[in-house]
Amino acid sequence: MDISNIRAIGVVGCGLMGAGIVEICARAGYDVVVREINPELLQKGLGRVKGSMAKGVEKGKLSQADMEAALAHIKGTLSLADFKDCDLVIEAAVENMQLKRTIFTELDSICRSDVILASNTSSLCVTEMAAATERPDKVLGLHFFNPVPVMPLLEIVRALLTSDETVEIGRALGEKLGKTVVIAKDRPGFIANLLFVPYSLDAIRWLDAGLASKEEIDTTMKLGFNHPMGPFTLMDFVGLDTLLFIADAMYEEFKDARYAAPPLLRRMVQAGLYGRKSGRGFYTYTK
Ligand code: 3HC
Repeated sequence: MDISNIRAIGVVGCGLMGAGIVEICARAGYDVVVREINPELLQKGLGRVKGSMAKGVEKGKLSQADMEAALAHIKGTLSLADFKDCDLVIEAAVENMQLKRTIFTELDSICRSDVILASNTSSLCVTEMAAATERPDKVLGLHFFNPVPVMPLLEIVRALLTSDETVEIGRALGEKLGKTVVIAKDRPGFIANLLFVPYSLDAIRWLDAGLASKEEIDTTMKLGFNHPMGPFTLMDFVGLDTLLFIADAMYEEFKDARYAAPPLLRRMVQAGLYGRKSGRGFYTYTK
């Protein structure tokens, strides 16, 4: 198996990340099958893909004809059985290990034995997902960044038993999708979140300690360091529930205070303040 054998890609889940992955794969000319768990979520997810491509057309990043060609490559389904002709599958379901293990076991029985199974997890152990299959050498992490069509990075996670060939195919795929690839070991947080999470948690701790306002902290990181978003804007963008989930996974593994979620973050998530997606996090959003 090499990258030239990959023509059809399966994507499990059409949420924020799944939709972005579907979009970039279809725009790169791959046939894409995307699975959601009910017709409403599938329709919403496919609408997200179309909306993002339409924005790309509006911004002059792709032509109307390229958008139509890409959309023609995408097929939605409610059944993983429709992945039987896929040459590679990327799982982008919710961050729940039991669910992911079930998906990987199912994919293992549906897909040909040479097919690579990847997870877009941001913090869960890829080795544990691989152990739910009979092909642990063909399982790896492909961690994309939000918004997927815009962010140029792909973090590849090499699980304990991932083969060199699988990593190389992952790298070649990332490059075909227009991404710059970095490779990390299977540790919660990989490279990006291992650095991003403590930075974000520190910003919350210092806000809670009264060092400065959230606006001042955001302005400092935007104007003093040229970050496109300050930490509070970015946390709202990522989702505070997602951030808490990743921090908890990292703390569980490393037992290091750097990764311990500050009480304010946990209280905000308990109160339903998830950030942009719920309309309120550190800031309030009107659609
Ligand atoms: N296809 C192609 N290009 C697109 C596009 C699409 N669907 N939608 C937008 N673009 C392009 C635009 O044309 C523009 O390109 P240009 O710079 O050449 O003009 C660029 O993307 C930016 O788009 P916008 O003008 O719409 O938006 P902004 O300039 O306000 O930028 C942002 C928005 C890209 C979100 C920027 O604020 C940013 O980079 N923020 C930081 C995002 C970030 O850090 N993401 C990582 C989150 S962490 C994560 O995902 C990991 C997880 O595990 C937690």
